[in-house]
Amino acid sequence: MTVHFIGAGPGAPDLITVRGRDLIAACPVCLYAGSLVAPEILGWCPAGARIVDTAPLDLDAIVAEIEAAHARGQDVARLHSGDLAIWSALAEQMRRLDRLGIPYTLTPGVPAFSAAAAVLRRELTVPGLAQSVVLTRSSGRASAMPERERLASFAQTGATLALHLSIHVVEALAAELLPFYGADCPAAAVFRATWPDERVIRGTLATLAGQVKEGGLERTALILVGPALDPGAFRESALYAPDYDRRFRPGGAVSAEGTR
Ligand SMILES: C[S@@+](CC[C@H](N)C(=O)[O-])C[C@H]1O[C@@H](n2cnc3c(N)ncnc32)[C@H](O)[C@@H]1O
Repeated sequence: MTVHFIGAGPGAPDLITVRGRDLIAACPVCLYAGSLVAPEILGWCPAGARIVDTAPLDLDAIVAEIEAAHARGQDVARLHSGDLAIWSALAEQMRRLDRLGIPYTLTPGVPAFSAAAAVLRRELTVPGLAQSVVLTRSSGRASAMPERERLASFAQTGATLALHLSIHVVEALAAELLPFYGADCPAAAVFRATWPDERVIRGTLATLAGQVKEGGLERTALILVGPALDPGAFRESALYAPDYDRRFRPGGAVSAEGTR
């Protein structure tokens, strides 16, 4: 018996990995994080599967479900939204399973920030403008921010910021970022990226909070901030420059036909 933790992607059911889908189809038990996993994904569960929304459950109750499946010898698909590596409460579940001696695997998924970038049709790292992406959040009831992880410290770098779990404090965030990025810095909010009711707001640090308020959008949104969101005339990366010498293109002399 194995628990398969699976990143279910940002919303659209076809944005789960093939491995994740096949594991769901093979597991007689599916535990899923209700509000952010598309119902279509549950359609891959085998007939007669036990399907449990874990949104109303506490950790003890979730582990009890897993222990019961373990006693029955049934594999479990444990679905989380986006990718497992960020804000999935994965660490505490794995620690419980380690203590119980229950084996598990991890299958990554498409994170919301990647989906939001695709919706905006943007690369978040643009030569000369930003070469780092900061994935962060504001303090919440479930997890306070560690003292050293201040937004101002991240903002000092000028990197592209992907602010999760923060749309309710967009006004305060924009005010805090303004001295570092400037009022005209491009900013966007993507609500429910890749869901049928997806909405996109594009603006600047000066306008975004007002636009969000006007749109009446309150949950499941990502805020992106940084010059890479509206790159204008940036210089191209050296990677595909004709004279760039690299391992697979020694001397840089390869025609367009020879590249993939
Ligand atoms: C608990 S975190 C889960 C993050 C997830 N593990 C990931 O890899 O993206 C939930 C937050 O992620 C962001 N989020 C998740 N799905 C989203 C989507 N489809 N569109 C926009 N933001 C999303 C929102 O900021 C939301 O408040």
